[in-house]
Amino acid sequence: NEIKIFSPATVANVSCGFDVLGFCLDTIGDEIVVRKSKEKGFRITRIEGFELPLNPLENVAGVAALALLNDINLDFGFEMEIYKKIKPGSGIGSSSASASGSVFAINELLGRPYTRHQLTHFAMKGEALASGIEHADNIAPALFGGFTLVKSNAPIQVLELPSPKALYATLIHPEIEIKTSDSRAVLPKQIPLQLAITQWANVGSLVHALHTNDYQLLSSALQDVVIEPYRKGLIPHFDSIKKQSVLAGALGCGISGSGPSIFALSEGLATAKSVEKSMRDVYSKSGIPFNTYVSKINSKGIKIL
Ligand code: HSE
Repeated sequence: NEIKIFSPATVANVSCGFDVLGFCLDTIGDEIVVRKSKEKGFRITRIEGFELPLNPLENVAGVAALALLNDINLDFGFEMEIYKKIKPGSGIGSSSASASGSVFAINELLGRPYTRHQLTHFAMKGEALASGIEHADNIAPALFGGFTLVKSNAPIQVLELPSPKALYATLIHPEIEIKTSDSRAVLPKQIPLQLAITQWANVGSLVHALHTNDYQLLSSALQDVVIEPYRKGLIPHFDSIKKQSVLAGALGCGISGSGPSIFALSEGLATAKSVEKSMRDVYSKSGIPFNTYVSKINSKGIKIL
């Protein structure tokens, strides 16, 4: 009647795949406890870590849970405790960790009536509260694990992509907040055909590289000619971080989701750690507080604790 889960942070976009690609991290995530209650309906009884609303209608985990519960007829309800470890607005899928963890946990307690695709649909309702639009590029990797590609939103279709074994992510999270809605507002409504051609060649190449364990191809595909030029100005020292990461051996480096976190991918843990050091060196001089993380690609997604 009670379940505790770990709901992981995720990196959306992965440079070239704006709004479609994402991958799941291992070392950072929220913990959520859900229990059945005799009282019908849904309540959030406790949130630790960050100040967020307990009212389910104002909380991404609550909106996602209610989307699921409105779909099913039950004569009991649920209570939730959220232990937030991922800072909201950090660019590593804080809202989607809450939204996907919420519906995953309820589904487990109900005996899994819903598929992961259906859970993605419910979780997107919560995500929309945070970012203003329904998108699944953070939710899909949290629920499915590994790398994912959101083929379509309506109907929701998620493709699970393989992760090369030696691939590690390094992240730096500068302690400034960028709202997804603000970093979407700086984007152009239209893009030149030539840039679109480069971008979709890179998306296709990245998917191929994941399937064939081709680190060199992966490296050349980890580029974003469409979104990054508009967003990088919102993130202090982005160009230096990128340059130093690649010098330290990273396959590529880009904005994590809508920022301000920056991610790099590397072949092997030792390189990922050198990349972390190079990122810390850049930010240490800046006076801006920051955190860094090194993580394996989490192939399982949400875990039951
Ligand atoms: N794909 C989204 C964006 C992810 O880049 O705006 C942020 O939630």
